[in-house]
Parts: sequence; structure tokens; C-alpha cells
Amino acid sequence: MTASPVLSRDADGVRILTVDRPDKLNALNRATLEALDAAFAAAAEDAAVRTLVLTGSGPKAFVAGADIAEMNGLSAIEGREFSLVGQRLMRRIERLPKPVVAMLNGYALGGGLELAMACHLRIAADTARLGQPEVNLGLVPGFGGTQRLLRLAGRAAALELCLTGAPIDAARALQLGLVNRVVPAAELEAQTMQLAAQLASAAPLALRGILDAVVLGGECAIEEGLQFETAQFALLFASEDMREGTGAFLEKRKPQFRNR
Ligand code: COA
Repeated sequence: MTASPVLSRDADGVRILTVDRPDKLNALNRATLEALDAAFAAAAEDAAVRTLVLTGSGPKAFVAGADIAEMNGLSAIEGREFSLVGQRLMRRIERLPKPVVAMLNGYALGGGLELAMACHLRIAADTARLGQPEVNLGLVPGFGGTQRLLRLAGRAAALELCLTGAPIDAARALQLGLVNRVVPAAELEAQTMQLAAQLASAAPLALRGILDAVVLGGECAIEEGLQFETAQFALLFASEDMREGTGAFLEKRKPQFRNR
């Protein structure tokens, strides 16, 4: 049996998934895309998992892209399928009912940046480099990059990154709103785990409502998005956690959320 290309470990409600092909800079071949898809599907179902962190093995790369060696041999039909498998994974992550934090420990290129953009939050080491270099391979981004980069950073930045293929450093990515935070590489894991721990102790139903309202609501016209927000807001009045959160504030104590 070959080792899984995705490692999984749990720590206090946080599931840490690591793409583990360091000798190929964690490039996404079909087997890795499928392993990630299965790992995220399992995490969505597991009530003990409150939040996820996604990263890559080794000191150099988060993920250096879709696997170029594998793509080189694909037919157009197979290329279409490869794109659809990648897009399905990215959509699954984006629509996960729990927060997913990408911990960018190095290169996040091509499919690696697309993977990072599907996550809800991104923390980058100051050494990370981000880009959509597909144009240099005679390709366009195929795992949702043209759409998510456009929505996250705007048309000018999306066109610049995709048309030139040139990577940017973490500081520029922060300027463009592509990452939430840049930290010294030596502090990346500690700071990411601190954020993940905070999310893991927050009210899960509220987190889910926020993810639904921002991700799905953000894809609608504003009237629909606002109605959606009100529906999420109203629903939470039926939760014990809302009584606990408001009650704890009034009693000047720390709330204990129980996911119900
Ligand atoms: N697909 C497949 N293999 C990849 C890969 C990818 N996207 N990115 C890196 N690798 C492999 C290299 O082929 C090399 O394998 P080898 O040792 O068997 O030859 C190994 O990972 C190490 O990469 P290498 O290029 O030697 O490292 P480097 O430090 O010199 O350069 C990068 C790092 C990221 C600049 C360079 O690997 C690169 O440009 N990768 C491709 C990025 C890309 O175009 N991604 C978009 C794909 S859609």
C-alpha cells in the first residue's frame, strides 16, 4: 500500500491536513486531489473537528501547483476531467461548514494558490511566494483561479498575475488582500495554531452561519444576500449556544459553546 499524499492529525478540535509530496514541492496530482477531497469530506462530517488548517510538507512549498508531469500526458477530455476534479475539491473547501485556514509555508503557485484561495483565511510566512504561472506552461488556471483571484483581489490584480505568470511576495499579497496576515516564517505555525484554536472554541453554528452568509450570500445580488443573512440570524435564536453566548456576556463569564 502506498502512503497517502495527505497527512492528518488532530489537536484540540483542530484538524491539520498536510499535503505530503515534499520531493515534488507538494504538487497536486490526481491522487492528491482525491485524497484531499476525501479528507475534507470526512472533516465536514466529524463533529469533533471544529476548524481546519491546511499546509504543505517541507520548508519550501505549500503547494507548487498542479502536477505538471501528470498534465503533460493528458488528452483534452482528461484535461477537462482534471479541471473538474480540482474545481470540485476547491468548491468543497469553500463550502465547508467549518473555517479552513491555509498556512502558506512557501510557494503557493498555480493549483497551490487556487487551493489557498478556496480556504476561508490565509496566513503566509514572509518567505511565501504566490502566483498563477500557468501561462508559462501554455495554460490557463483550471481549478477556479481566474474566478477566485478576480473576486478576492479584483480584475487588475487577477489579470496581472494570470497574464504575466510572475509570482509575488507575501508583502504584495497582503497589499492585494490575497492573504489575511504575513508573519515571520519561524512564527508561522504558532500564529496559525493560535488563530485556529480561537476558531475551534467559537460557537460552531455561528461560524457556519457566517461562512454561509459570506460565501453563498456574496455570490448573490445584495437583496438576496441580505435576506439570507436575516435567515441565518433568525435561525441562531433557536440555538442553545446563542442563549449561552448572550447569557455569559450578561453574567460576565466566558461562554461554553456546545454546538447546539
Ligand atoms: N508539478 C510537478 N512537479 C513539480 C512541480 C509541479 N507543479 N513543481 C515542482 N516540481 C518538482 C520538480 O520537477 C522537481 O522534481 P525533480 O527533483 O524530480 O526534478 C522538484 O519538484 C523540485 O522542484 P525544483 O524546480 O527543482 O525546485 P526549485 O527550488 O528549483 O524551483 C519552483 C521551485 C517552484 C520555482 C519550481 O519548482 C517551479 O517553477 N515549479 C512549477 C510551478 C508551476 O508552474 N506551477 C503551476 C502548475 S499549474
